[in-house]
Amino acid sequence: MKMWAGRFTKEIDQTVNDFNSSILFDYRLYPYDIQGSIAHSQMLSDQGIISKEDKEKIHEGLREILKNMDAHEIEFTTQYEDIHMCIEQLLTEKIGDAGKRLHTGRSRNDQVALDVRLYAQNQAQQILKGLLRLIEVLTKIAKENTTTIMPGYTHLQRAQPITFGHLLMAYTNMFRRDVTRIENTIELMNECPLGSGALATTTYPINREQTAKLLGFRKPCDNSLDGVSDRDYVVELLSDLSILMMHCSRLSEEVIAWCSWEFKFVELSDAYATGSSIMPQKKNPDICELVRGKTGRVFGDLQSILVTLKGLPLAYNKDMQEDKEALFDAVDTVKMCLDVLPPMFETMTLYKENMLKAAQEGFLNATDCADYLTKKGIPFRDAYKISGTIVAWCVENNKTLNEVSLKQYQQFHPLFENDIYEALDLMNCVESRKVYGGPSKNSVERQIQSIESFIENRKEMYEEA
Ligand code: ARG
Repeated sequence: MKMWAGRFTKEIDQTVNDFNSSILFDYRLYPYDIQGSIAHSQMLSDQGIISKEDKEKIHEGLREILKNMDAHEIEFTTQYEDIHMCIEQLLTEKIGDAGKRLHTGRSRNDQVALDVRLYAQNQAQQILKGLLRLIEVLTKIAKENTTTIMPGYTHLQRAQPITFGHLLMAYTNMFRRDVTRIENTIELMNECPLGSGALATTTYPINREQTAKLLGFRKPCDNSLDGVSDRDYVVELLSDLSILMMHCSRLSEEVIAWCSWEFKFVELSDAYATGSSIMPQKKNPDICELVRGKTGRVFGDLQSILVTLKGLPLAYNKDMQEDKEALFDAVDTVKMCLDVLPPMFETMTLYKENMLKAAQEGFLNATDCADYLTKKGIPFRDAYKISGTIVAWCVENNKTLNEVSLKQYQQFHPLFENDIYEALDLMNCVESRKVYGGPSKNSVERQIQSIESFIENRKEMYEEA
C-alpha cells in the first residue's frame, strides 16, 4: 500500500510503479534526508507541534536507520517510491505513531529540495578538495621547472620560447578560477528551502530560521514557491563543473600530444598508462583521453538539466526528479578525474632535452632578432621585415638563427654586432621577458607564490569534506 493510499481505491500498476520510482538512484541522498528530518523534528518539538518524547523516538529511529544504511543493510527496491518515503516507512515500522508525525508541516517537495541542496554543497566541497590537490601538484612541478625551456605555441606552430613552469602555471590559474566559481556557487545556494512545504508553506507555527541554522544555512529562502522549484544551483554547479572539465580536457590534450613520438616531451609512468592488445610497442595516454571524453559527458549533464527546467511552470513538477541523475553523474565523473590526474602528473617523466631541442628548431627567437634591431633604433615594423628575411634565408640554407655568421647578419643590416648571439640565446629570450605574467624565472616564481598562498588559505577549510 502506498503512503498516499487514502485517495486511491486501486493498487498502482507495477510498470507505472517502477517508472515512477526514483529510489534506485536517489537512495544516495539518505544521509542528507536523515539530517533534514532530525532538524525538522527538533524544530517541531521546540515549537510544541510534536511532543518531546516523539522527537526523541524519531531521532533514535533515524540514527538507527542511518547506521543500517551506512552498513548496506537496507535493500533499496522499487517497493519504495523514493528515498524520502523509504526512510519514513522504515521509521514508522520501527517506532510506530511517532514516525507518522515526522512529516507534519513538511512536504516531499521541500524535503527533496533540501536534500539535493545539502548533497550539492557537500559534493562541491569534496570536489574543491580534489581540485586543490591538482593545483598543488601542478604548482610543485612548475616550481621545479622555472628554467626548463620549451616551445610556446600559437596555432600549434612553434611561436616563442617559454618554460614548462610558465605553461603549467597557466593551468593553475584556470583551476584557481574554477575554485572561486565553485565557492561562489556554494555561497549562492546557502539558503534553506525547508519549510516551503508543498509550495505555500504550512499553517503550523514552524520556525524556518531554526531549521536553516541547524542545517548550516545562512538563512531560509525568502519565497516558498521559489524554495521548492529552484534548481538554479544544480545548473550553476554543473556549469562550474563543465568549465572545470573543459580545463582538464585542454590540459589532457596537451599531455596526449607531448606523449606522442612527434613531441616526446613527457612519458607517463607505466602505472598511469595502458598498452595495446595487438601493438606491443604502444603505451597509450588513456587517462587523458578518458578525461577528454568524459568532459563531453559532463557538458551533456548540464544540457540535460537546462532543458528539463526550461518549460516548467511553478512550483514543483515531477520532471524535477530528473535533476538527480545528471547531477550525480557529473559529480562522480569530476571526482574520478580529479582522483587520477594528480598522481598521473606526479609520476610523469619530463624529457627536458627534447623540449629544449624543439625550442631550438623553428625560429622561436625570430621576434627577439627583430627586437634586437628595434632596440638599436630601427622601427619595429622594419626590424620585423629584416628578421623575416633572415628566417627565409635560414630556411633556404638549412640553418638556425644562432648558426648565421656575424658577417652574414651584417649583410642584412649593418647594426648587427656580436651581441646578437646573446640576444638569440633561448634562456635570455625567456629571461628578458620580465613583464608581469611573463615567462622569466622571477615572474613565474611570483605566479607560484600567488597560487601557493591561495591554496594555503583554503586547505584546512576543505580538509574535512
Ligand atoms: N522523488 C521526488 C523527486 O525526486 C520527490 C518529490 C516528490 N514530490 C511529489 N509531490 N511527488 O523529485
